[in-house]
Amino acid sequence: MMQRDWYKTAVFYQIWVRSFADGNGDGIGDLYGVYKKLPYIKSLGVNAIWFSPLYPSPNADFGYDISDYCDIHPDYGTLDQFKKVLDRAHEMGIRVVMDLVINHTSDEHKWFKESCKGKDNEYSDYYIWRDKPNNWNSIFEGKAWEYNEERGQYYLHIFAKKQPDLNMDNPKVREEVKKIMRFWLDMGVDGFREDVITFISKKEGLPDGLPFLPIVNGMPYYKDGPHIIEYLKEFREVSDEYGAVQIGEGPMTTVRSALKYLTGPEKTLDLMFSFDHMLADCFYTEYLHRKFDLVKLKRAFSKWQRALNNDGWNTLYLENHDHPRIISRYGSERHWKASGKMLAACYMFQKGTPFIYQGQEIGMTNIRLRDIAHYVDVSSIMNFNLFNTDDPINKRMARIHISSRDSSRTPMQWNGTKYAGFSRVKPWFYVNRNYKTVNVKAEEEDHGSILNFYRKCTELKSSSKTLIYGSYREFFPKNRHIYTYERKWDNISYLVICSFSSHGRHWNIPDEYVGRIGKLALCNYPMPVSTAISQKPRDLLRPYEVRVYRYKLK
Ligand code: NOJ
Repeated sequence: MMQRDWYKTAVFYQIWVRSFADGNGDGIGDLYGVYKKLPYIKSLGVNAIWFSPLYPSPNADFGYDISDYCDIHPDYGTLDQFKKVLDRAHEMGIRVVMDLVINHTSDEHKWFKESCKGKDNEYSDYYIWRDKPNNWNSIFEGKAWEYNEERGQYYLHIFAKKQPDLNMDNPKVREEVKKIMRFWLDMGVDGFREDVITFISKKEGLPDGLPFLPIVNGMPYYKDGPHIIEYLKEFREVSDEYGAVQIGEGPMTTVRSALKYLTGPEKTLDLMFSFDHMLADCFYTEYLHRKFDLVKLKRAFSKWQRALNNDGWNTLYLENHDHPRIISRYGSERHWKASGKMLAACYMFQKGTPFIYQGQEIGMTNIRLRDIAHYVDVSSIMNFNLFNTDDPINKRMARIHISSRDSSRTPMQWNGTKYAGFSRVKPWFYVNRNYKTVNVKAEEEDHGSILNFYRKCTELKSSSKTLIYGSYREFFPKNRHIYTYERKWDNISYLVICSFSSHGRHWNIPDEYVGRIGKLALCNYPMPVSTAISQKPRDLLRPYEVRVYRYKLK
């Protein structure tokens, strides 16, 4: 087996290509655009890219509804262009991970079209068909079952109607998955991010769901299902031949079930995206919003840090294409610069592999479009219709402004020219109005920008064994404004102190650090005259200040 431990020292950059960079002037981001921006990506100190789906897709869920797994969407380019990006990235020392979406396909995939034709053709059992649906709800669009006239049966779709679930219990489907994996691995990709992978094995008989879990009432029967480990082992065998990494997305996953995938002799997944820390300002998903609670966030961080400390390995992320922008959530648009930088340091120095989502590194924020008709994300539209319909429109829109996935999908802001330098023509989606100040060019020119702070963070993280392999310990978990944690390895330790407050806040130095001399390695405000930590047990942090101190222990 080839070595695949590289992910432990990697820093990933996630590209949602449609909004990254338009290379051919049609208003849509594409692979040529990515090719031209590879030096920029490299300059961030990242050494791996995760591409959200690049495949042909009718875009009911922007690429997560795939109609052909072994090609590139014509909007984004060709297989040849992909190969060029891949080879160039490799020459630059950047690995490439593809999105593998195998819980469902598009209803426009050839398999589904054939499956609709009848009960006795080659593809009849590729999907989950029933004469009588159970009571499951879909995550995106009402009931989880849709009647198909042609076949005279209902098919299951845990997500949108245009995303029918594959029947993974059919060995032929698993063989198709392995073929797809080989196709991309033979081309040279370095692994897969596996979309909602914990949903692929459903409980036999598909029992009715639980009434008290409104949207996800069927989840207990489709999450971590009976054959999941078995199926993942089959996929692991393929990826092992190539030394490829498998990164699973685990919505609502618990520490206990994550450990089943990440540890043990099989180690069916190398990394998992967990969601607990995304729930510090909402109940179950962003649209059930409530006030941000730092203690909740810290609890989630520390729970995962502790659980995966010896065995297993964490992914570290605050943004991706499924969540609104983090400054607008856990930070403050008013304290844009300070909070953008603090958030970078607060997650990146934990133990695990950091992921940066396009635009996060320049502090992009949420958009607030006037009318729901301007939104394009299937789940935002459904949520809007679910919100209490007696509420006035502006109240319902305010909730969309807080929660929509579209906020993370606006065109990347490259400069202050028209369309933010994303494209020469009108882009496929709205550009955030703040592009004149929040953009790569402006931040390249500002030594103290969020962008340059991200570069400092990736450099510090990648160059320190302590910040990669060291143990994690949290101090003052009940403090409602400040997050303090330590990383320690051999005789070096780091203290990371993050204020989540828009006011000055006093910070207590942990007892064992009182009197020790540490060196300030990073700060988001101008460095104090003396960079050595004072021996005072208390110190004042400015709004959203972060300090990272390095100590040499005797
Ligand atoms: C998770 C993906 O990240 C999200 O964008 C998508 O809508 C769902 N899975 C369904 O594929």
